Amino acid sequence: MTRMDKYSPVNVDGAYFAGVPAGESDLHALLRPQILISNKIELKLSCVKNNTIFIMLQKVSLPMYKFAKSLCVLNKAHHVRLLSSAVNQEHNFFFRQLFDTVSSTYTYLLADKRTKEAVLIDPVLEHAERDATLINEVGFKLIYAMNTHMHADHVTGTGKLKSLLPGTRSIIGKASGAQADIHLVDGDLVTFGEYQLQAAATPGHTNGCLTYIFNQQSMAFTGDTLLIRGCGRTDFQEGSSERLYQSVHNRIFTLPDHYTLYPAHDYKGQTATTVAEEKKYNPRLTKTLQEFIHIMDNLNLPYPKMIDKALPANRVCGLY
Ligand SMILES: [Fe+2]
Repeated sequence: MTRMDKYSPVNVDGAYFAGVPAGESDLHALLRPQILISNKIELKLSCVKNNTIFIMLQKVSLPMYKFAKSLCVLNKAHHVRLLSSAVNQEHNFFFRQLFDTVSSTYTYLLADKRTKEAVLIDPVLEHAERDATLINEVGFKLIYAMNTHMHADHVTGTGKLKSLLPGTRSIIGKASGAQADIHLVDGDLVTFGEYQLQAAATPGHTNGCLTYIFNQQSMAFTGDTLLIRGCGRTDFQEGSSERLYQSVHNRIFTLPDHYTLYPAHDYKGQTATTVAEEKKYNPRLTKTLQEFIHIMDNLNLPYPKMIDKALPANRVCGLY
C-alpha cells in the first residue's frame, strides 16, 4: 500500500478507493501522481486544485464507478472527476463470439468473471463439446443455454450442453412453441452474475423470435430478426414481413445508435454491426414498409435444406 493508508482506504468490490481530504498540508504530496494497484484495479491521483481531488480511475468496474460518484454526493472527496475511458469496458465482463462454418451461425459466450456465471446464446449441436470445453477451460459455470428462436438451419446445442454441463438450464421464447426449462416473454430478464439480458419480443422471422438486449454493455443479440445489412427470411415458420419490419423499427432501431448488434448469422465474413449503421445502410429495412414487403415477397429463396431435420429437433431442445 502507499501513503494513502493514512486516509482509511475503503474496500469496494475487492479494491481500495481512497476518499482523500484535500487539506493544505496534503497538497504537496498529492500533486505527485501516485498509482495504487490492488486486485488489478488502478487509481491514479492526478492532481489537486482548489481543494478538488482529481482521481484517474483505470480498469474500474461498474460498482467502483458508482462508488466514485457516491463520494461526490457525500462530499468526502470534494469532487471526483472520472477520466478513464475504460469505464465501459468492465474488467468483470467476458465475451466470446464463436462460429459454425456449416450454417454460418454465431454462438455467443457471455460471463461474469467474478461470479463465474456464464450464458451461451444460440449454441450449435455439432459444437456442444467445443463450447463445453471452452467453458471448462476458462473456469465458468454455464447457467443458461439460450436460443433467440427456434432455428430452421441447424440443430440447437442446448440439450446436449445440459448433459455435458450439468446444472445448465435451457431458455427460449414462449411463443416459439419449443420445449425448454424456461420460457421467456417480452420484458423478462436473464441474470448471470451482475449482468442482465432483457428479452424483447421481435417476431417476424418466426413468431417466437427474441432479441436479447444488454444495456450494461450497450449490446443486443438480434438472432435472425436483424442481420448485418440484411434480415431473416419471412417465408416459413409463420413468418411475417410486416411484423419483422415493425419489430426492427420499434424494438431495435429505437436502441441508442452506438449499441453493437450481434446477429445469429453472417454469410459474408462480418461479425457485428451497430444500430446507427443498420439505420443508414440496411438495404431492406431503410425502405418503407410496402417496399420492404415487396422485397421480401420476391427473394425467391430455396427451401431451407435443414428445415425438415432442424425444426422437429429444435422443438425438443435438440434432443431427438
Ligand atoms: Fe432462423
